[in-house]
Formats: sequence, structure tokens, C-alpha cells
Amino acid sequence: MSDEVGIVIGEARPDRIEFVAKYPVRVGDYVVVDTEDGPIVYMVEGFRNISELLQNETDYQTADEVRRASSKNPRDRVRIGIARALGLVNELLEGRRIYPTLPPEPGASVKPAGDDLLKSIYGSEGKRWVGVGYLLRRPEVRVSINLNMVASRHLAILAATGKGKSNLLALLAKKVSERHGTMVIFDYHGEYDQLRIPGIKITIPKINPRYLDAEELADLVGVRRDAERQRGLLQQVYTQEVREAEDFWGAIIGRLQAIAVDDNNFDFQTRIRAVSVTEIINRALTVWGKVFDPSARSPLDVIVNNRVNVLDISELTEYQSQIIVDRYLEEILQDRKNAVRGEGGAKFKSPVIVVIEEAHAFLPSERRTRCSEIIARIAREGRKFGVSLIIISQRPSKLDADTISQMGSFAISGLIHPKDQNFVREVTDDVSEELGTSLPSLNPGEMILAGQFIKVPALVKVDLVEEKLIGRDLDAVDLWEREYGSGSDYSTEELIKL
Ligand SMILES: Nc1ncnc2c1ncn2[C@@H]1O[C@H](COP(=O)(O)OP(=O)(O)O)[C@@H](O)[C@H]1O
Ligand SMILES: [Mg+2]
Repeated sequence: MSDEVGIVIGEARPDRIEFVAKYPVRVGDYVVVDTEDGPIVYMVEGFRNISELLQNETDYQTADEVRRASSKNPRDRVRIGIARALGLVNELLEGRRIYPTLPPEPGASVKPAGDDLLKSIYGSEGKRWVGVGYLLRRPEVRVSINLNMVASRHLAILAATGKGKSNLLALLAKKVSERHGTMVIFDYHGEYDQLRIPGIKITIPKINPRYLDAEELADLVGVRRDAERQRGLLQQVYTQEVREAEDFWGAIIGRLQAIAVDDNNFDFQTRIRAVSVTEIINRALTVWGKVFDPSARSPLDVIVNNRVNVLDISELTEYQSQIIVDRYLEEILQDRKNAVRGEGGAKFKSPVIVVIEEAHAFLPSERRTRCSEIIARIAREGRKFGVSLIIISQRPSKLDADTISQMGSFAISGLIHPKDQNFVREVTDDVSEELGTSLPSLNPGEMILAGQFIKVPALVKVDLVEEKLIGRDLDAVDLWEREYGSGSDYSTEELIKL
């Protein structure tokens, strides 16, 4: 058999085979083996290249001699591949993923999967499917994902810094926008405001402080969490009357100032504290005044249906961001519940995708935040109401595992830390131990896509979104050169004197 790449050896299982190979096969490539159930397509997840002669540590002289002997003896090259079954070929061609029930016979022939076969598996057509890249090992084969699954079953993008998380999100945002979907991105780094896709809406979130409780209000204006007495004082002046006052901030500050000058009723420390809290509030209003809006009706007012909405939270503190995410998610979920139940007045008549970047800041494993509960709730029940999450993080092991295991789809790349690799294996069956160990060697944009948004898992070279400019590494040397070239008038002598 001329196109044979190898022979099945050892104890083959229906889902996983080991084979000796004629030549090296790359992780992420595809092979086909015939079984009684019909041909099965496998993805190669691990590959070892062993020389029996060169196994042992030895002196250089010996190794040099052994090397010559080894190179003359083809039997001394043992190439072992490990591959996982993706499904029965004939079923996959019909769009169904059926696992084999019988393993191939030991000795069965392992053949490369043809591009045509892979094209029909990965290149689904139709308006629900969007192309996102090419198979990393088969650059001719386009890979499509099912956007409906992103919009209903949640997606986690888990990859080391610089491996293309934001790029993939930009790509998805572009596709969602082309299909007039509604997306809300909490832009933690302020990097999506340069994204040039049609109809994108860049905006700052708005929150009405009247609807917050005292603790939230303290977080919002930036009273430190350990400043218990300051927080207590704020709570004291944050009365129902203040909540309902026309001039909300004026009312709070008025009360604090009254305390500050009232030496009959308050001790010196309390009066000083009232001054400090006033200063904190005034400073907060200077810096974040546009975000806290006591006249805002609903946080949803700044969001536009059928558009990609970028909510810039990059200037906010972590606590403020958590409050914002909490409020928006609560409102979005409630609104979609109303819509699905046919109650009037719902804003979103169709599903909404919510994106949380740097998710470990909002949904950490070791503690609760103001928004972790609502994120977990949407992960559990959002599907019923058409609210889905895209969770993005470079430190998956710091995320809440229960919530992440609710994600229907995964895009994974470049995780180096064993804890992160283990986490990924825990939350998805699609990344085996072998595949996990190849994660660190992936380049930017090379990602494992697995789960419900793709027919079968794949190692994909994701398209680069040219429209996304910010967040790229700066080309410092080039920028220096250009600035220098545009005229620096100092002579070296002048510079020494400076
Ligand atoms: N699909 C891709 N193809 C080519 N290069 C990419 C791709 N994705 C990312 N990159 C490169 O990697 C850089 C970092 O990507 P980015 O999406 O910002 O990573 P992350 O958000 O994971 O830190 C980009 O500026 C780009 O140069
Ligand atoms: Mg990023």
C-alpha cells in the first residue's frame, strides 16, 4: 500500500490508537483507519521519534559512533504516533459525529486523511456557519464554526498572553456584526475601540448609583474595602431620602458636610472622616462622573440591538468593573427572560452574546466577587433565554471551574503552566493529555477549537483580523527610528549638557 503512513500496534481502543509510522507525522494532522464499522478518521495528538541505540546517556565519543551506526540502520528509528478517533467517516460526511464501537485490528493500515475528506468535514456551508481559519496541518482546508452554538452554548477562549485571544474575539465580533447579531464586550484594556467593523458601537457603561446598596456604592466611589469606618459613615448618610433626592450627589455630600461641622453631635475623628469621604466622592465624580449617572434609566439604554457594543471599562477599578458587569448581566438576563416569556417591553428581541475579557478578575476560583454569581447563573441557564457568554482568560486555573465546565465550546492555545493544562483537561474532554503537552509549542493564532461550535475538534490557524490594531506589540525600534527621522535637533554636545 503506497500511501500507508503506519501500522496500528498495541492495544487499540475504539477511541484511541497507537501506530508505528514510516515517517514523522505532525500533531494535529489526520489519519484514517478501516474498521469493521467502516473507516474512522483520527487526529494525531502525540508523536515520538526514538532510537534504541541512542537511548542512554553516554560519553560524546560513543554517541558519535552510535550515531553513525544508527543512521545506517533504519530499524533503529522507532516512530510512534498516538491518535484519537474523531468519528466514523461516513457519518461525519452526513454531518453526524458517531464514535466507533470497535477498535481497529492491530496491524491495520494507517493512511493519511485526504484533503477532500477534511474539507467536507470542516467546511460547512450555510448562514449559521462562518469560516474562522484553516487547519494548521492542512492549509488548504477551511474551517467553519457554528455561530448559533456561540450564541447559545457559551465559549471559553483560554490561551497564554499574545496567542491570539483578542484576535479571535475580534474575528467573532466581525462575523456576528455581519449577521446583525447583538454582542456586548466589556473592554477591559480599551483595545476594541479601534476595531473597524461596520456598525460597531463604542460606549462607556452607565450605572445609576441609586440602585446600589451601601457596600456597592462604597466600592463604586472607591472607598477602600479595609476602611470600615469610612464605609460605615457612607452607609449612615446613604438614606432613602438621599436615594430619592433629585440631586443625588448633592444630597450625600450635604449630609457628610453637615457631619463635618457638627461638633455637638460628632467626635473629631468622625468629622475628619466625613471630610475624607467627601473628598473621595468628589474625586470619583471628577474621574468617573460620566459612568455614575443618577438620572440613567437602565444600563441597557447605552446598548444598541443588532450591533457589536464595546463598553469601555478600561478606566475603571476592578471593583467598579465588577459592579458594572453585575448590573449589565442582571439586566440583560432579565430582559431576555421577559422576551422569551412574551412579556412586553423587552429590549432584546433576539439572543445576546456577552464577552468578558480577563475573566479571572470577575470569576476567580478562590473567592466570590459582586458579579461571579450572575456569571455562573448565565452559564447555567442563559441558554434557555438566549444569553451566552464568551469568557476569555490567560490563567484558566484561576477561574471558577464549575462555571467554565458549563462552556459548550473552547478555543485553547499556548498554555504553559501545568496547572492551566490540567484545568483545561478537567473542563473539556476534547483536550487529552498528549494534546495538552503540545499547547506550549503553538504560535500566535494557532488554536485548538473544540466543542459544540465545531463538528469535530481541530488544530486551527485562525484568520488574522487586519482591522484590529490596538493590543498588537508595539514595534519600538521602528517607532524610535521614525520619530528620530522626523527631526531631533539636539547635537550630542547639547545633550551632554542637558
Ligand atoms: N490568527 C493570527 N494570525 C497571525 N498572527 C496572530 C493571530 N492572532 C494573533 N496574532 C499575533 O499575535 C499578537 C497578539 O494577539 P492578541 O490577539 O492580542 O493576543 P492575546 O489577546 O491572546 O494576548 C497579534 O498582535 C498578532 O500579531
Ligand atoms: Mg488580549
